[in-house]
Amino acid sequence: MCGIVAYIGNRQAYSVVLKGLKRLEYRGYDSAGLALMNGELSVYKKQGKVSDLENYLHEVGQAKLHAPIGIGHTRWATHGEPNDVNAHPHYSGNKELAIIHNGIIENYDALRTELISKGHQFESETDTEVLIHFIEDIKEHEDLSLEEAVRVALTRVIGAYAICVVSAQEPNTLIAARKGSPLVLGLGKDEFFLASDATPIVEYTSDVVYLNDNEVCVIKDGKFTIKDIHTELETAPYIQTLDIELEAIEKGGFEHFMLKEIYEQPKSISDCMRGRINAETATMMLGGIREYIDNMVEANRIIIIGCGTSWHAGLVAEYLFEDLCRIPVEVEYASEFRYRNPVITPGDVVIAISQSGETADTLAAIELARVRGAIVLGVCNVVGSSIARASHAGSYTHAGPEIGVASTKAFTAQLTVLTMFAMLVGHRKGTLDENAYQQLIKEMSLIPEKVEKALKLDAHIKYISDLYKDATNSIYLGRGHNFPVALEGALKLKEISYIHAEGYPAAEMKHGPIALIDEEMPVVVVATRDSSYEKVVSNIQEVKARKGQVIAIVTEGDGLIASMADHVLEIPATNQLLTPLVSVIPLQLLSYHIAVLRGCNVDQPRNLAKSVTVE
Ligand code: G6P
Repeated sequence: MCGIVAYIGNRQAYSVVLKGLKRLEYRGYDSAGLALMNGELSVYKKQGKVSDLENYLHEVGQAKLHAPIGIGHTRWATHGEPNDVNAHPHYSGNKELAIIHNGIIENYDALRTELISKGHQFESETDTEVLIHFIEDIKEHEDLSLEEAVRVALTRVIGAYAICVVSAQEPNTLIAARKGSPLVLGLGKDEFFLASDATPIVEYTSDVVYLNDNEVCVIKDGKFTIKDIHTELETAPYIQTLDIELEAIEKGGFEHFMLKEIYEQPKSISDCMRGRINAETATMMLGGIREYIDNMVEANRIIIIGCGTSWHAGLVAEYLFEDLCRIPVEVEYASEFRYRNPVITPGDVVIAISQSGETADTLAAIELARVRGAIVLGVCNVVGSSIARASHAGSYTHAGPEIGVASTKAFTAQLTVLTMFAMLVGHRKGTLDENAYQQLIKEMSLIPEKVEKALKLDAHIKYISDLYKDATNSIYLGRGHNFPVALEGALKLKEISYIHAEGYPAAEMKHGPIALIDEEMPVVVVATRDSSYEKVVSNIQEVKARKGQVIAIVTEGDGLIASMADHVLEIPATNQLLTPLVSVIPLQLLSYHIAVLRGCNVDQPRNLAKSVTVE
């Protein structure tokens, strides 16, 4: 939700900031803007994408853009509609200060009223403009430096923020702070970068400091200091080395990030297993949770929390933990869990799943679970993210940066980690015997090549997509382990192609969705050969009896379903516990091709953002 980037150094700030905004655009694309400081402070902003801002800057002309300090923002609107006025950066009343902000200031309305009574006038509807006026007000009335004014203001606001502030009166200074929204400081030679994640920074330096909540960072005269907002004590920075490759955040010849990421899955699943699974010795280890395996073995209950696609990964994990470990599992939307006064006992283990590691609801749910005594294990993709840090322990998915808003490779990497969790726990607990454990390890190691094979369906899927691209509704059906896969397939289709899609347990179709079926309706059925195969075959017959169009994902060599369905997509056989890792691939490709054929922007679907840092 909103991406921010800032630069101070000897390069052209506008070009570093603009390039950074393009990398962060997955976080929001309602409007974009930047402020440059070179003696005077100038703000340029536009509704729409970063490319719209770029076109506008071309009109402004490069000569006006030379500056050593710049701050930029790409917005996912919360307060006020997406337009030029509400776009960031925002000026203070005297236009001497400018701010960019990712997050929400919850008490902005009270502050706004107070500031209006003091004579402040606002141009936008945003909470961010209120914050910069508040900083200005404190600076003027309490006669403070910019650094002090920012710090004091932040002790009085309620909400979440990552901010950067510049002032025309202090032209060599850049101030940043965070609480609840991510912020990374990049350390170059005589230059500094700030960004919502490391992708705008990686091409310039790999030395970074992830700011913690309640920290304010002051960059001044070529040096930086980090202080606690409340105690004012200086904190020693923990400098980390980034391990992101530049090509991992570029399209690499693919038309869209989403397609690239779909195709990366054989590699991302291998990367996720690397150093953890050894097929030759049939052994497995997960260093990150080693100390907590016994907590899971002895757990009264495992509660899995997540949002969106991560929640779907949790649903698959429910089957895995119940099958392999015989532990009761509950899977909860993080947003519901945290507001429900959930019953959590100290024997419970909570697994929090999040690609970004920044989802506000998941983070808040973790805090609640910890307060009530649960052990929290994180499954995150982004290293150093807030959720990774808020958990007691966890395992990274190592899928590499995922930039397409619709999650693909992060999902399969989450399934890979969760499968390993369940196998380790089941093995330790004795509910998964040695022989079955070793068989599963061997089968896991074959998944990347089976995914590779599933990707070969691409051309056939494109052909099918063309037949159904004009559908207005669709149903996705699956049973058992494939039920969450059906949900995920439906989510993929609706989020990027805007076709209404419902995922349903195949048998449950009879209790409602069957009424929707007619000869126009595509019904996608995940019907691999597993314990519920015969039942799913019956469900396909029920759809055909009502003239629905069946697209079936089947196990290689399935002649029976081929004789009934309108289209079959064959995927390699695997252990049914691992099937979702392969059966989701054709569904990802189907949604991708349908969206492209409909002319949709698959990497940046309307109204969505990849990282949801507001509640
Ligand atoms: C957003 C994204 C989804 C993602 C969900 C949860 O809605 O568009 O792709 O599944 O957030 O995000 P997380 O980073 O916590 O997995």
